[in-house]
Amino acid sequence: MKKQILALFAGAMMLAACNTTPSQPSTVKSFDEIVSGRFSCKKFDSQQISKEHLDAILEAGRLAPTARNDQEQRVYVCQSEEVLAKIDKQTPCRYNAPTCLVVAYDRSKCFVYPGEKYDSGAEDATIVATHMILAAENVGVKSCWINFFNPDSLATALALPDNEQVVMIMDLGYGAEDAQPLPSHSKRKPIEETVVYM
Ligand SMILES: Cc1cc2nc3c(=O)[nH]c(=O)nc-3n(C[C@H](O)[C@H](O)[C@H](O)COP(=O)(O)O)c2cc1C
Repeated sequence: MKKQILALFAGAMMLAACNTTPSQPSTVKSFDEIVSGRFSCKKFDSQQISKEHLDAILEAGRLAPTARNDQEQRVYVCQSEEVLAKIDKQTPCRYNAPTCLVVAYDRSKCFVYPGEKYDSGAEDATIVATHMILAAENVGVKSCWINFFNPDSLATALALPDNEQVVMIMDLGYGAEDAQPLPSHSKRKPIEETVVYM
């Protein structure tokens, strides 16, 4: 009897194991599809992105590498009408996106290159932003990288701390039905013009 109970228990455990999908990726897109599918979206649907999608995007930013692992980036999630109106006063490039991320970094916390002339703040924040843009594409959220604004003026409008430097605004949202890449999207220089084998 004891043996039968044990066998039943083992069988149940095996069934449970079969039904559990170990670390299923949340996407069916390949990396190539993500990279080639991304384009700068200039027409967004007004529907807000889901929390699940936003969280996936933010998590990809969290996992980005930073110099010395300082993680000095600050990502501001802007979704309220009030804050989006402030962004609209700073740039014409929101394109109706219902979410904007303002990516900044803490100047006092980033790695300073030997020679003390440069620091890695903008690099780190840019890598974080790039992770998030690709993660957005992965979950079907369109994006546009925006730098057509005055970073100091935006920081003042959003009352950011003095030690923070704004690097970019990221428009995020689901693409409008007729959202298309600009014709220039497919115009990339041949690899020989940008890559040099030494
Ligand atoms: C650093 C950077 C800044 C950009 N700033 C703006 C911007 O202010 N407004 C805008 O509409 N697009 C902006 N873009 C989008 C570019 O114009 C776009 O990436 C480029 O034309 C290539 O098109 P694609 O992203 O569709 O491949 C920016 C892109 C980058 C990488």
